[in-house]
Formats: sequence, structure tokens, C-alpha cells
Amino acid sequence: MRTNSLITASAALLLAIVAQFYFAAFGAFGDRADTGGFAAHEWVARTALPLLAVLTIIAAAVARVGRRLMTLSAVPAVVIVLQFLLFFAARALGSDTHPGGASLSGSIVLGFHALFGLVALVATALVLSAAWRSRARAGSTV
Ligand code: HEM
Repeated sequence: MRTNSLITASAALLLAIVAQFYFAAFGAFGDRADTGGFAAHEWVARTALPLLAVLTIIAAAVARVGRRLMTLSAVPAVVIVLQFLLFFAARALGSDTHPGGASLSGSIVLGFHALFGLVALVATALVLSAAWRSRARAGSTV
């Protein structure tokens, strides 16, 4: 069933985003020398998140979802790219990008990092819930 792939991909992406929030706090509270700081956060950002975000788009296309859900399924991928761009923007402003080291302008830009993470989380949850409901509807008509 095509919707099953979308449910699996978006559920895995949601899990990875939730883990990303956890690893952000893990990095923020830990002693870097002891815990590795944001290494896990950066690893998830560079590997699992891009991969699962692209898989979610492909699964939505294969499931032939409507235009609205197709657009929504692309939101996490766009947001992940924007997350990287925020760091480029802060550095372009001459700011350090590490916690506790950013200038005021850098901090204003990097503050959006948390909000963008939230946008990715909500968009992914909406895709998962829509795919779930679509499967339930299809099941009830058989
Ligand atoms: C979709 C969600 C997220 C993605 C894709 C993401 C991605 C990234 C990436 C790629 C970096 C490394 C940037 C660089 O140095 O070039 C980073 C660093 C960081 N992220 Fe996130 N992030 C996400 C969510 C969050 C959230 C929700 C928070 C906290 C509220 C957060 C806090 C941080 C902090 C504090 C750093 C700086 C670590 C350091 O370099 O010392 N991130 N993130």
C-alpha cells in the first residue's frame, strides 16, 4: 500500500526531528570535552534528517497525494536547508555561531534556528497524520 511508505518515512523523520531537539539540549547542557557537545546534533542534521526528508517527499509523490500534502511533505527538507543557511548568514555577519559566543546580530539570526526546528516538527507531524487518516479512509471503503 503506497500510503504505508509515506507513514513510515514521515514517522521516521518525526522521530529524527524529536531526537534533534533532544541532542540540542544534550549539547547545550553538557561539558563539551566530556560529552562531545553538539556532535550528535550535527551528525543527525547532516545525515539522517536530509535522507529522511527526501524519502518523505519521494513517498508522498509515489502515494500520489494531493497538491497540498505534497507541498507540506517538502516543508521539512526546505527547513533543513534553511537551518544550514542561518549559520552561513550569522557567519557572514561576522558572528561566532557557538552557544554563548554569538554577537547580537548573530543571535537574532540564530534564534530562528529553534523556530525553524519547530516548523519542521509540526509540518512532519501534519504529513504523518494526513497519511494516517488517508489510510484509515481507504481501509474503511474496502
Ligand atoms: C530541524 C531541526 C534542526 C536542524 C536541521 C539543525 C541543524 C543544525 C546544524 C547543521 C548545526 C551545525 C551548524 C554549523 O556549525 O555549521 C546546528 C547547530 C546547533 N543547533 Fe541545530 N538543528 C535543528 C534544531 C535545533 C533546535 C530545535 C535547537 C535548539 C533549540 C538547536 C540548537 C543548535 C545549537 C545551539 C547549535 C550550535 C552548536 C555549536 O556549533 O556549538 N538546533 N544545528
